[in-house]
Amino acid sequence: MTQILIINGSPRLRGNSAYISKLLKQGFDEANFTSKILVLDKLSINPCKACDSCIRSGNLKCIQKDDMLPLYSDIQDSSCIIFVSPIYWFSVSAQTKLFMDRLYAFHTKEGFKLSEKIMAGVLVYGDEDVVQSGGINAVRSMQDTFSYCKARFKKIIFGTAMDPEDVKQNYQFIDRVGKFNEELIAEIKSSS
Ligand SMILES: Cc1cc2nc3c(=O)[nH]c(=O)nc-3n(C[C@H](O)[C@H](O)[C@H](O)COP(=O)(O)O)c2cc1C
Repeated sequence: MTQILIINGSPRLRGNSAYISKLLKQGFDEANFTSKILVLDKLSINPCKACDSCIRSGNLKCIQKDDMLPLYSDIQDSSCIIFVSPIYWFSVSAQTKLFMDRLYAFHTKEGFKLSEKIMAGVLVYGDEDVVQSGGINAVRSMQDTFSYCKARFKKIIFGTAMDPEDVKQNYQFIDRVGKFNEELIAEIKSSS
C-alpha cells in the first residue's frame, strides 16, 4: 500500500500550511492513495540529544520516549514524505526543524536507512519572494536533506501568504500546489 505522509510544521490550525496540506490530501484521496497529515505542533517532539544510541543500537530506535517514536515506522513504511512549513526567521519553523533533526535516528551501523523515497516540500512565507523572505535558506536546507536521504525524486515549491488562509487568494500559488500534487501522484504511480 502506498503511504504518503504530509508533515505540517505550522502551529496555526487554520493557517496556510494547514490549508495546503488539506488540498494535497484531497488530491491524494481522489487518486485513491492513502495519506496522513501530521500536525507537528500537536505532538510532543523533543530535540535530538546527539547521544548516538540510534547508531549503536542499529534498530531505527531513539531512546527518547516521545511522540516521535511511533512515527519512525510510519516514515519507514511511507513512499512519499511532504514537508509543508511556514518560514520563520528565514528558515523552516522550529517544529519542522525538530522533526528533521530526529530523522538522525535512521543512522544505523549499516548506514542511513532512509532512502529511495519521494521527498517534497512546500514553503510559505509572508514576504514578497523566496529570497527576501529567507525561504531560499529553507529550500537549500530541504534540498540537502532530500539528497542526504538519497530521495529518488525531489521537488520543492514555495509562495507568499501572510495571514491565515491568505493563500486562498494567491491563485498562482494554489495553481502551483495543484500541479505539484499531480506531479507527485504521477511519480507515485510510476513507481508502484
Ligand atoms: C515567528 C515568526 C517568524 C516569521 N519569520 C518570517 C520570515 O523570516 N520571513 C517571512 O517572509 N515571513 C515570516 N513570517 C511570516 C510567516 O511565514 C507567514 O505568516 C506564513 O503564512 C505562516 O504560515 P502558516 O499560516 O502556515 O503558519 C514569520 C512568522 C512568525 C510567526
